[in-house]
Amino acid sequence: MCGIVGYVGPREPTEILLKGLKKLEYRGYDSAGLALFYEGKIKIKRCQGKLSQLEQEVQNSRYCATPVQNHFVGIGHTRWATHGKPSERNAHPHQAGPIALVHNGIIENYASLREKLLSKGHAVSSETDSEVVALLIYDHLKSGCDFEKAVFLAIQELIGSYSLGILCETEPNKLIAVRNGTPLIVGVGDHENFIASDIPALLEHTNKFIYLEDHEVVVFEPNSLVIKNIAGKEIKKEIHHIQWTADMVEKGGFQHFMLKEIHEQPQAIINTLQDRVVKDKNVLYLKDLKLSEDEIRQIRKIYLVACGTAYHASMVGKYLIESFARIPCELDLASEFRYRDPLIGEKDLLIVTSQSGETADTLAALREAKKKGAKVISICNCRGSTIDRESDSTVYTQAGPEIGVASTKAFSTQLVVFNLLALHLGLTLKTLTPEKAAPYVQDLVRLPYTLDEVLKKEPEIKRIAEKFYKKKTFLYLARGMNMPIALEGALKLKEISYINAEGYAAGEMKHGPIALVDEDTPVIILAPKDKYYDKVLSNLEEIKARAGIVIALGSEGDLHLPKVADWFIPLPQKSENVMPILLTIPVQLIAYYIALKKGTDVDQPRNLAKSVTVE
Ligand code: M6R
Repeated sequence: MCGIVGYVGPREPTEILLKGLKKLEYRGYDSAGLALFYEGKIKIKRCQGKLSQLEQEVQNSRYCATPVQNHFVGIGHTRWATHGKPSERNAHPHQAGPIALVHNGIIENYASLREKLLSKGHAVSSETDSEVVALLIYDHLKSGCDFEKAVFLAIQELIGSYSLGILCETEPNKLIAVRNGTPLIVGVGDHENFIASDIPALLEHTNKFIYLEDHEVVVFEPNSLVIKNIAGKEIKKEIHHIQWTADMVEKGGFQHFMLKEIHEQPQAIINTLQDRVVKDKNVLYLKDLKLSEDEIRQIRKIYLVACGTAYHASMVGKYLIESFARIPCELDLASEFRYRDPLIGEKDLLIVTSQSGETADTLAALREAKKKGAKVISICNCRGSTIDRESDSTVYTQAGPEIGVASTKAFSTQLVVFNLLALHLGLTLKTLTPEKAAPYVQDLVRLPYTLDEVLKKEPEIKRIAEKFYKKKTFLYLARGMNMPIALEGALKLKEISYINAEGYAAGEMKHGPIALVDEDTPVIILAPKDKYYDKVLSNLEEIKARAGIVIALGSEGDLHLPKVADWFIPLPQKSENVMPILLTIPVQLIAYYIALKKGTDVDQPRNLAKSVTVE
């Protein structure tokens, strides 16, 4: 949570920092701020509210920087509150004497550090844990250290997670950045360098990046950057060239990133399948999966661990792997995994799934499993992220940057990767013959074109959403491999429209949720023609018998469903492995159009952040 940017170079940085923060606003958006040098002094501008407030303030007050020896240095921050409510005084940057600092993470020992600093006569002006870090550095400066030394001494005292960008008035040509436990990357430009919490913030300026590891410190000066480890020893790091472009992080004519990303799904799936499937031969290549045939044979159990939407993808993954490869799978919420002391060991495989690759709980689960000797594979969208780097191997979803807080294209590409993985494991273990795999592979290869067909239902889905957007509760029901899509549909609706929505296995309905059904409750039933069809139909009848409103997503050509449901959205009928992906599009669109009609902030829903980097 929280986004950080920083700049060192010959350009006046106000706009660079504001634009960078705009691209990071998905990480937090309750307040924002900048720190720049003006005539040799640090000038801070902070605001409660969204970044637009800060932009307005900057414009009204003509806030800008002046160079120090022809160079500029600046930092910026967009906040997702942890300690202290959203307010101007809790917004970053925090200042302590000559130090200005932005922070992402949580300082766990901030209370004791604050006590110590107060007893030394320092004054505290915010409720945050972050201000303590600025004070600590200031305290070391006062005892005679230079800027760099003061930073190194201060971070030795910190417990917790922190990415930091720090300026010092007495050394105005320097920016010092630190990474520990929360993401921070270095952007390498021509005669200018940057820091940011995430790549999209800097794509307009560079596609050359250095991924920092925990406990690394970067000292930037005009035309130079030096990376050191915690012991102060200089280290050399590789510069990575990445393929993402600046226009990938623009809305491209859509009203919201979420809608753009829903429509990008066919292309994202083409990219995810590319070079992994040979169409006519039904052969799969998962080059990035570093698991030998022998290793696959020795897997005792697979643990699938993730959070939120990625957890729902993992739930589909469990169905796919167990059905195609017959390997027993256990599914865990990442936030629970390590606390239940899981019985994972050397013979087991952990698959973590994460769009961002930075989710704190998922990362902690990965570390727990590694500690216990398990092999770890990740399904991840962000190359160079912590989860990517700490996994034994990563199978990338090629979704491109996902900006909308509600995950859409990352989810469908995760489902595609689970399909590839399950088919690959099944073919290797011979639990699946190439003949049996063929229809599954074929439907996977045709999926982008099938999704184009599904996207044509958008006007119909919009009409349904506009009819029901005032309802207070929605239920989503499904069975089998489609059941996780009921959960995902409900999550999408809740998070962007703030409507209470529950997803259930249809068979569970009579064990409680049916009590919610009345003439005011829309129930979205996923009922394609599969082996569960008759059973789902019985559940539908039970809802109708209680006057519930049924919106059914089913198969084209089904003549019965349109008669018994109040609303029917027909979808192409394909093999069971791709049906969850087809059903995903309508549930995403229903959530989107309901939220749009309600007027909520679709891309930045309240209280949420895209990347949950704290527990
Ligand atoms: O980056 P990750 O995939 O690890 O994120 C996991 C969840 O935080 C994420 O899927 C969240 O639930 C989304 N907001 C759902 O749309």
